[in-house]
Amino acid sequence: MDKFVIRGGNPLLGTVRISGAKNAALPAMAAALLTEEPVILENIPQVRDIETTRKLLAAMGGEVELGYGRAQHRSTICCRDLTSPEASYELVKTMRASTLVLGPLLARCGRARVSLPGGCAIGARPIDLHIKGLERLGANINQEHGYVEASAKRLKGAEIVFEKITVTGTEDLLMAATLADGETLLQNCAREPEVVDLADLLNKMGAKIEGAGTTTIHVTGVEKLRGAKHRIIPDRIEAATFIIAGALTDGDLNVCGCDPNHLGALLEKLQDVGIKTKHTSDAVRVEGNQNLKAADVITEEYPGFPTDLQAQYMALATQAEGTSIITENIFENRFMHALEMGRMGAHIKIEGHRAVVRGRTLLSGAAVLASDLRASASLVLAALVAEGETIIDRVYHIDRGYENIEEKLRGVGAQIRRIGEILPKKK
Ligand code: EPZ
Repeated sequence: MDKFVIRGGNPLLGTVRISGAKNAALPAMAAALLTEEPVILENIPQVRDIETTRKLLAAMGGEVELGYGRAQHRSTICCRDLTSPEASYELVKTMRASTLVLGPLLARCGRARVSLPGGCAIGARPIDLHIKGLERLGANINQEHGYVEASAKRLKGAEIVFEKITVTGTEDLLMAATLADGETLLQNCAREPEVVDLADLLNKMGAKIEGAGTTTIHVTGVEKLRGAKHRIIPDRIEAATFIIAGALTDGDLNVCGCDPNHLGALLEKLQDVGIKTKHTSDAVRVEGNQNLKAADVITEEYPGFPTDLQAQYMALATQAEGTSIITENIFENRFMHALEMGRMGAHIKIEGHRAVVRGRTLLSGAAVLASDLRASASLVLAALVAEGETIIDRVYHIDRGYENIEEKLRGVGAQIRRIGEILPKKK
């Protein structure tokens, strides 16, 4: 298993370019199931979850072309002949977002067999709200042998109120409703930019969706959807991870190819911490400073502070003067990284869904273990400011959602290598 070896202490200087959003690309690829015509997606990130989705769609009979060379961020997907509307446990267990095929398969094929995702490092993460919503649209759903078996002659529009805000739940039902008979009203929806991006693609495919980005989405079902071409939005979580890296390392970093409008909660919090940022329409410049101030944070649904930035923010809080209280309100078990940072010398106390971080502490390099995608990103950040070398094991987690992170970091001065590579001599 790959490891990262990181020598801390270098300020990050220069420009880093952000890739397309993993959490927008995955539902967009699932949306291709809704039509027999080709869907062309641009700005697709080269991360492992995209490859898993390619396998998922190909196993159903879809043709998925992932570009390479100059076209490496482009994908053409054609699901003309779906021979088997099934998502196997083998694939779903590696990526729970595979459940995003449930709604589209049911809407397009009238049946779907999708493995239940099972447990996850960060929480129970059931899909009961997806299932309840599809039943409201008239689907018959059984769960047996670890699979959801769903069928419906044709889904029928309905009013659905989500008991809890769910991102992929909103996306799954949105896709299903596009081909349902009649009107669907979705309430208490997720407002994430990735939901809006999906609705933009679906409307280009001929769907009739209004209100994406608000808590209420209205869908008028249509008989058929057509192919379309769509550029995936930038990855706001990747952009934010690099912005925090620039702040943390006392660097001067220009994070470009991102959308600052999607980063409001983070930029506001960085101001509280004493970090100034400047931004243009597609870039954020962050200048670090040595006098970071502690500030509490509470994770919320968009436009609140994202749970996918909680771990990275914790790394920053270890270098801020004072006590930061981090409250995780979305997932019940998302502090695994705190114990690993503790191995590097951080002072973090977990009290239920709150982490109390005392800073500023000098971190020292150590061998640590990544437990999930964002936890691994936070350990990379901590290692960038630690004294000496840190070895991060199980970096396959980070490859799921960050494109070439070590090359991007090296490009702005970080000392990082994947085990096995010869480290260039320090200048
Ligand atoms: C999406 O997951 C993201 N994944 C996650 O990013 C992100 O952490 C999460 O939204 C929250 O922002 C993708 O978009 C592929 P939820 P999702 O349904 O949709 C509960 C990353 O690092 N819930 O919004 O699975 C659930 O347990 C990943 O890129 C139910 O109870 O999250 C959680 O407590 C990690 N029943 C809360 O709702 C359901 O049927 C929010 O989860 C669905 C969700």
